[in-house]
Amino acid sequence: MKSLIDILDFSVEELDALIKTGMDIAGNPKKYAKACEGKTLATLFFEPSTRTRLSFEAAMCELGGNVIGFSEASSSSAAKGESVADTAKILSCYADIIAMRHPLEGAPYVAALNASVPVINAGDGGHHHPTQTLTDLLTIYREKGTLSGLTIGLVGDLKYGRTVHSLVAAMSRYEGNKFILVSPKELQMPDYVISDAPNAEFVQTTDLSEYMHEFDILYVTRIQRERFPDISEYERLKDSYILTPEKIECAKRDMAILHPLPRVNEISVRVDEDPRACYFRQALNGKYIRMALIMYLLSLSDGKPIARPQGEDGYKCTNPKCITSVEQELKHIYKKDIHGVMRCIYCDKT
Ligand code: CP
Repeated sequence: MKSLIDILDFSVEELDALIKTGMDIAGNPKKYAKACEGKTLATLFFEPSTRTRLSFEAAMCELGGNVIGFSEASSSSAAKGESVADTAKILSCYADIIAMRHPLEGAPYVAALNASVPVINAGDGGHHHPTQTLTDLLTIYREKGTLSGLTIGLVGDLKYGRTVHSLVAAMSRYEGNKFILVSPKELQMPDYVISDAPNAEFVQTTDLSEYMHEFDILYVTRIQRERFPDISEYERLKDSYILTPEKIECAKRDMAILHPLPRVNEISVRVDEDPRACYFRQALNGKYIRMALIMYLLSLSDGKPIARPQGEDGYKCTNPKCITSVEQELKHIYKKDIHGVMRCIYCDKT
């Protein structure tokens, strides 16, 4: 059995196969109308969502399957103190596959360790959002015809924006990609994301206009209000970059503008009419790639839980956003990353 917690759980070959299936679904969705007949998806959303939850649900409906779930923690027994592990064991009795979004980093991983059905991470705090990355990969492939040799501008909140962390992890596995990281100094990309992507080239800047003429992809992100410990800091930084038609005048004619959405005001609605604006097509691609993902994980499902983590004891994670900070019975486990640095297995913090 396989779960998807981090985009690195999938090999490049698996990513390519999912994109190929996603392309086929996009061209002929009716062909897949009975692919998951008799199967049930549970959507466990402990945090708000429009696109991820509803595209998962639409995906399962279009595959002929069923959907159960909840859209806020307060309507589940988490509100009474039920653990993520127990929730996952219970939902394994009711569903064939689980998609979970949770504000605590590592929560979907804990679910995967305890479920007897595949678990998909639909976003865990500011950590990972692998199905958004699959959506982004399919969108880039459909727009540019390749996932290699691209100059990709990532703009906005690169510190808390989980979608850009997963996108760097995925795109750096393809040849010749260069990332221009555009953010205020306070919201720069975490070091671990950059150091885990040794094959890619990175440039950091605070100036969006400096590299505008170079971008093949411009990936804009929202400043993540809900992740700021100090709301006055959010107020100070929230309008750091607002994309307008004037600002993209000097950009390539075939640049693709992506945004995981929701947008607040970081892209002017005046940009929407520009053919380079791909973000609404991107949301549709999210449904196609989630259909491909559900089919793939169900095809591998054999009820055997994923392997328990091996690591070293004697460490205590101090990240207040880590699942271990709330679920006290979880064992703190650390393991070495590719650079020999010890990291929490749930949240990746050192
Ligand atoms: N892109 C994305 O994750 O959107 P939602 O928060 O609406 O699911």
